[in-house]
Amino acid sequence: MSGAGRRRASIRLMLPLALAGGAVLVVAAILLSQRTAESAPAQPIAFSHRTHAEAEIQCLFCHPNALRSDVAGMPSVERCAGCHRTIATTRRRIQTVLGYWERGEPIPWQPINKMADFVFFSHQPHLAAGVGCETCHGDVGKMNAARQVVNMDMGWCLNCHLKQPETAVARLTDCLACHK
Ligand code: HEC
Ligand code: HEC
Ligand code: HEC
Ligand code: HEC
Ligand code: HEC
Repeated sequence: MSGAGRRRASIRLMLPLALAGGAVLVVAAILLSQRTAESAPAQPIAFSHRTHAEAEIQCLFCHPNALRSDVAGMPSVERCAGCHRTIATTRRRIQTVLGYWERGEPIPWQPINKMADFVFFSHQPHLAAGVGCETCHGDVGKMNAARQVVNMDMGWCLNCHLKQPETAVARLTDCLACHK
């Protein structure tokens, strides 16, 4: 088992104990949240957010599930082909995109922001509360490949939840809000 895998396994064993343990952990988590964000993995196609933002395509056009569900999701290859059957069709990278589309294969995008399976996160309540994409993901419209801009650990989540209106803080810092 890899180092990270071993850490994950021991966390899962610790979690019930820790959930009973309480608030000291919250403070510890905030103090420990100093690791830096990881760099982006290689993607199957050099996709540029910047190019598409300059063409004024909205985030939600390609990640529409963010508004209504837990996951923002990735655009299907059909969505890409919707434009690229006619836009920039002679370019090499677009021919690669159309190759996936013609074979009916999804493009195997590599995940960047990924919570451990013992954490519950949903986009929906955040967008409903008016927290913008850039608050958590940075200025993606200026990036080529998306990359993580903050280390999304427990201290990061709690730092923001503790700043919410007083009446909501108890609910938003309840261990079971994020560990179901
Ligand atoms: C034309 C479609 C398109 C548009 C518009 C678009 N994206 Fe993306 N997005 C993608 C694709 C394709 C990927 C996977 C490649 C990559 O990671 O760069 C991706 C990846 C991401 C990721 C990383 C996903 C992960 O695995 O964690 C984030 C975050 C993201 N986009 C946010 C945004 C935001 C914010 C906007 C608006 C500023 C936006 N996207 C606009 C297509 C799009
Ligand atoms: C409160 C912080 C926050 C906000 C606001 C936010 N995201 Fe995310 N996003 C995350 C986290 C955390 C993950 C990892 C989720 C997981 O693995 O369960 C993520 C994952 C993603 C992914 C990867 C696929 C997925 O859903 O797991 C995409 C794409 C993405 N976000 C796009 C967006 C877009 C577009 C917006 C704005 C419409 C947005 N996000 C707003 C925190 C946020
Ligand atoms: C709403 C229309 C639209 C959608 C949807 C769209 N694109 Fe694009 N794409 C564009 C435009 C416009 C350009 C800029 C073309 C130019 O440079 O003339 C572009 C450029 C590109 C380029 C750069 C081409 C080059 O080599 O110069 C790549 C690669 C690309 N898109 C991939 C994708 C992928 C992958 C998807 C699906 C995740 C996607 N696009 C979805 C409109 C779109
Ligand atoms: C930039 C601020 C911010 C960050 C960062 C943030 N959140 Fe939130 N979160 C909010 C706001 C605002 C709400 C909605 C508040 C409300 O409903 O009163 C919310 C709501 C939630 C809810 C729904 C709670 C409920 O029961 O109503 C969950 C679950 C959640 N967040 C998990 C997370 C996790 C996990 C992370 C870290 C990966 C995270 N959040 C990071 C601001 C943030
Ligand atoms: C707002 C969301 C949120 C709340 C509330 C929350 N956690 Fe977490 N917790 C997380 C996230 C996200 C991680 C994953 C951190 C990572 O992968 O680096 C995590 C990780 C953990 C871990 C694993 C330790 C590690 O290595 O990071 C334990 C144990 C834990 N939480 C216990 C608790 C306890 C006990 C409470 C209540 C006092 C609590 N959590 C409240 C989001 C939350």
